[in-house]
Amino acid sequence: MPNQPNSWSVPYPQADQHRHESELREAWERVCESGSYILGREVEAFEKEFAGYLGGGRVVGVASGTDAIELLLRALNIGPGCKVVLPSFAPSACAAGVLRSGAQPVFADIDPGTFTLCPESLSTLLRSPLGTGVRAALVVHLYGHPADWQGLCRVAAEHGIELLEDCAQAHGAMWQGQMAGTLGRAAAFSFYPTKNLAALGDAGVVATHDAELAERLRLIREYGWGRRHVSEFAGVNSRLDELQAAVLRVKLTTLRSGILQRRRLAAEYDAKLKDSRSVMPPVVRGGCEHAYHQYVVRTEKREALLAHLVQAGIPAAVLYPVPLHLQRAFGGSPVPLPEAERAATEVISLPLHPYLSEEALGSVCEAIERFDHA
Ligand SMILES: Cc1ncc(COP(=O)(O)O)c(C=O)c1O
Repeated sequence: MPNQPNSWSVPYPQADQHRHESELREAWERVCESGSYILGREVEAFEKEFAGYLGGGRVVGVASGTDAIELLLRALNIGPGCKVVLPSFAPSACAAGVLRSGAQPVFADIDPGTFTLCPESLSTLLRSPLGTGVRAALVVHLYGHPADWQGLCRVAAEHGIELLEDCAQAHGAMWQGQMAGTLGRAAAFSFYPTKNLAALGDAGVVATHDAELAERLRLIREYGWGRRHVSEFAGVNSRLDELQAAVLRVKLTTLRSGILQRRRLAAEYDAKLKDSRSVMPPVVRGGCEHAYHQYVVRTEKREALLAHLVQAGIPAAVLYPVPLHLQRAFGGSPVPLPEAERAATEVISLPLHPYLSEEALGSVCEAIERFDHA
C-alpha cells in the first residue's frame, strides 16, 4: 500500500532497544537507585570504555554532538574573530556548533566520490581573501566515510591551521588502519538516537590524546568550575547524564558487530546495484573502512526515484538537501561550490542498519530495478 511501511521495515533505534532490552532495564534501575544522575560513575566508566574502543586517549562526555563541536573550539580558544572551515555538504549542526563558539564558519567544496572535504578546495579557500583568520577545519567524515586525511594534513600544515574531526557519523570508520576520532588533535562525536552508537536522547563526547585539552573541556562543560562553585573559565552547562552514559555502555558492547553487519549489507547493496541504470553506489577510497552510518547512492533522477521509493513504502531520505553555503543562517557564500551543490541534488540514503533483513534489502533493490526499466 502506498506510503505505508512494508512489513519488513524494522525501525533502527527501536530494534536496537529490543535487542538490549534486559540490559537497558538493569542499567536504568542501577542509575535510578544510585541517587547520582549527572557526571557520576556511569559517565566516568563510559568515557573510559569509549576511549578503550578508540584505542586510547581521553574522552569527555558532553550533552550532544553540536555541543562537542562548540566546546572543543572554545577549549582551543577558537571563537569570536576566528574562522573555521567546514565542508559545505554537511548537516547544519556542524555550522551551528561553530557559530555557538563565536567563530565564523566558512565553506569549502567536497570530493565528489566520498562527499568529504576536498583538500584542493580547502587550499584554494585558504589562499583566497576569505581564508584570512581561519584557525581550523572541521573535517566531517560524512555518512561514515573517512575524509582524505593525508591530503588535508598537507594543506593544514602548509597554512598552519588545526584539523579537527567530526565523527558524529563515523563511529568505527578507519583510515589507513587508524580509527576515525584519533586522527587529529581532537574529535567530536554524537550519540543522537539514529547514530551507529545511539543513546536514548541527546549525548556526545570529545575524544583527544591531549590531556590538557581534555582537562579544559572537563571544566568548560560544567560552568568552567575548577572546584565546585568556583569558575576558572566562562563555561557552560553541557553535561552527559548518567542514564545516557549507562545506555551507551550497554550499546557499546555491540558497536563493532553492528558496524560489521552494516558493511556486509552495504556489500550486498553494492553487488545488487552495480549494473543499475539510474543509481551509482557509494565509492570507498583505498585504505579506508566505511562505517556506513548511511548508504548513499547518487542519481540524476533524484526526485522521480525518491517518489518511486516512497510510493513503494521504502524509507529513503535526502541527507542533505541544501549545502551550508546556500543556507541563509550561515551567511551565504560569495563563491559557488559546484560539487556540494550537485551532491545536494543527487543523493538518496537507502535504508541501512544492522537489523535490516536481506529480504528488505532485496526489495529496495527490486524497486530500483523496476524504476530502471520503467
Ligand atoms: C556530522 C554531524 N555533526 C554533528 C552533529 C550534531 O550532533 P547532535 O545532533 O548530537 O547535536 C550531527 C548529528 O546530527 C552530525 O551528523
